[in-house]
Amino acid sequence: MTPSAQPAAALRSLRQVRQVRQFTDQPVTDAQLDAIVDVGRWSGSSRNTQPWRFLVLADRDLVRRVGEAGAPHTRALLTAPAAIAIAVPAAGAAVSFAYDEGRAAERMLIAAGMVGLAAGIAWVAPDHRASAAGLLRVPDGWIVRTLIALGHPTDEARQPKSAPGAARRPREDMVTRDGWSDRLAPWEPPT
Ligand SMILES: Cc1cc2nc3c(=O)[nH]c(=O)nc-3n(C[C@H](O)[C@H](O)[C@H](O)COP(=O)(O)O)c2cc1C
Repeated sequence: MTPSAQPAAALRSLRQVRQVRQFTDQPVTDAQLDAIVDVGRWSGSSRNTQPWRFLVLADRDLVRRVGEAGAPHTRALLTAPAAIAIAVPAAGAAVSFAYDEGRAAERMLIAAGMVGLAAGIAWVAPDHRASAAGLLRVPDGWIVRTLIALGHPTDEARQPKSAPGAARRPREDMVTRDGWSDRLAPWEPPT
C-alpha cells in the first residue's frame, strides 16, 4: 500500500456511513442504545455548553407515532425499533444549537454502525414540531428538531442507492487547496 493510500483506507468505513430509513423487526438492545447515546453526550459543543438533552425512545409504538407526527421527513421512524431525539433550547443562539446537535447526531449515526446497527437522521419540520413535542412531553422552552432512527437495516435498505462513486459530487467540484477556485461547483439550491 502506498503511503498516501493508507489514510484513505483507514477512513474507508467513515466514507461509507449512509442513511438508512427502512428497518427490520429485530430489536436493538439497551446496551446498544446506552452506548450510542453516550457517544452523543460526549460530543463537543460550542463553549462546552452541552445544550442538548437526549430522549432515548425504546418503545416501538412511540417511535412510530413520532414518525407519523413528522411524516414524510421522519418516515425512517415508521419501521425503526428505537430512536434518539435531541432536544435543544428553543430560544437564543439557534445556529449554534443546530450546529451542536448536528455534531452529536452524526456521531451517533457513525456509532450505530460501529455496534452493528444502522441509523437515519431526520428533521422534524417546524409545522410538525408541536405534535412531536407533545408525544415526547417536551416542555416549553425546548424544541426537538433532530431524530435519529435506529435499528437493523432491511435487505433493500442495505443496497446502494446509487452507482459506485456516484452518491457524492467529485472531489474536483468540491475541494481546492490554498483558496477558492472557479472550478468549484456553483451552489444550486435543491428544487
Ligand atoms: C441536517 C440534516 C437533516 C436531515 N433531515 C432528513 C429528514 O428530515 N428526512 C430524511 O429522510 N433524511 C434526512 N437527512 C438525511 C439526508 O437526506 C442524507 O444525509 C442525504 O440524503 C445523504 O444520504 P446518504 O448518506 O445515505 O447518501 C438529513 C440529514 C441532515 C444532515
